[in-house]
Amino acid sequence: MDEEILRLLKDHPSGFLSGEEISRRLKVTRTAIWKRVKHLRTLGYEIKASTRTGYRLIQSPDLLTPSEVKPLLRTKWMGRTIHHFHSMDSTNSKAYQLALQGAREGEIVIAESQKRGRGRLGRKWFSPPLSNLYLSVILRPKIPPHQAPLITLMAAVATADAIKKFSGFQPLIKWPNDILLKNRKVAGLLNEIHSEMDRIHFVILGIGVNLNMDKRLFAKEIRSLATSLKREMEQSISRKAFLQTLLEELEMWYETFLEKGAPAVLEAWRERAKIQGRAVRVTCFGEILAGVAMGVDSDGALILETEEGERKRVVAGDVEYRR
Ligand code: BTN
Repeated sequence: MDEEILRLLKDHPSGFLSGEEISRRLKVTRTAIWKRVKHLRTLGYEIKASTRTGYRLIQSPDLLTPSEVKPLLRTKWMGRTIHHFHSMDSTNSKAYQLALQGAREGEIVIAESQKRGRGRLGRKWFSPPLSNLYLSVILRPKIPPHQAPLITLMAAVATADAIKKFSGFQPLIKWPNDILLKNRKVAGLLNEIHSEMDRIHFVILGIGVNLNMDKRLFAKEIRSLATSLKREMEQSISRKAFLQTLLEELEMWYETFLEKGAPAVLEAWRERAKIQGRAVRVTCFGEILAGVAMGVDSDGALILETEEGERKRVVAGDVEYRR
C-alpha cells in the first residue's frame, strides 16, 4: 500500500491530494492511510498533511523502492520488476528462491541492508543500511553451463563501465571480478548458477557496490584495501541514479554477449583488467602460486605461467599483484 500511496502523491506533484480521494482509490479507510503516511515519514519521506486539503509529497529519501527507481529507468527489460526489501539476509539467496519459483529474466532483488551478505569464497559482505548498493539480478541465458563464467566477466565489465560513466574514474577489474578504484576495492560480484549438465536454469548476478560508505565504517582489517565512490568523488552519491546507470550497462553488455558471443566480452574484460604480463601471486584452495599472468581463457579461467615455467589454469582464487 505504501508504494500505491506514493504513486498517487507523485502523480500530484503540484498540489495536495485529499485523504478521502486516496482512500477511495485504494479502497481503505482514511485512518489506514494516515497510519501508512506516518510510517512513510519514518522512512524519510517528507509528507505535508492538512485536514482541509489532504497530503502532499515534499521530498523523497534516496531509497531504492520501485516507486523511486522505476520513473528513472531507461532499460527495456532489465530491472522492470523490482523486489525491494528494507532488510534481509542476502539478496542472492532471495533471488535464487524467486528464480526457483519461476521469476523471469531481468527481475531484480534489492535490499537497503543485508544481515548475511555473502562474498566470494565463503566470506561475509558487510552490508550496513542505506549507504551502498546490494543488488541481485536473475538471468536465464541459453548457453551451456561451461560458459557461465563469461556471464561473470560480462557483469564485471558492466559494473566497471557503470562506475566509469558515473564517476569519470576508470576502474580496474581484478581477476576474477573485483572492481578497484585507485587500487582499492569498490565493488564485488558473487554469481551463482543453477543448472543441469547441459542446460542452465538461471544465473544470479550478485553485485555489491560501496557507494556512500565512510572509511571508518569499514572493518579495520580492510580499511586500507576498500573504498567507496563517495570517498573517491568527495561527494554523496545518489544510489538510485547509480542503480539506473548500472542496470543500463548490464542490459547492454548482456545483449552484446548474447548477440556477439564470448570474444566481445573477453576483449572488453581484458582491456579493463590489464592483467596480461603482470607478476601475480594467486591463492587457490590454500595453495599459493606465484608467476606471470598470461590472461584469461574463453571460460574465464586465469592462465598463469609459474616461476618453474609451468602453465597452470586457475578457476577460482584470489589474486595479488606483485608489482
Ligand atoms: C565479493 O567480492 O566477495 C563478492 C561480494 C558480493 C556482494 C553482493 S551484495 C548483493 C549480493 N548479495 C549477497 O549476499 N552478495 C552479493
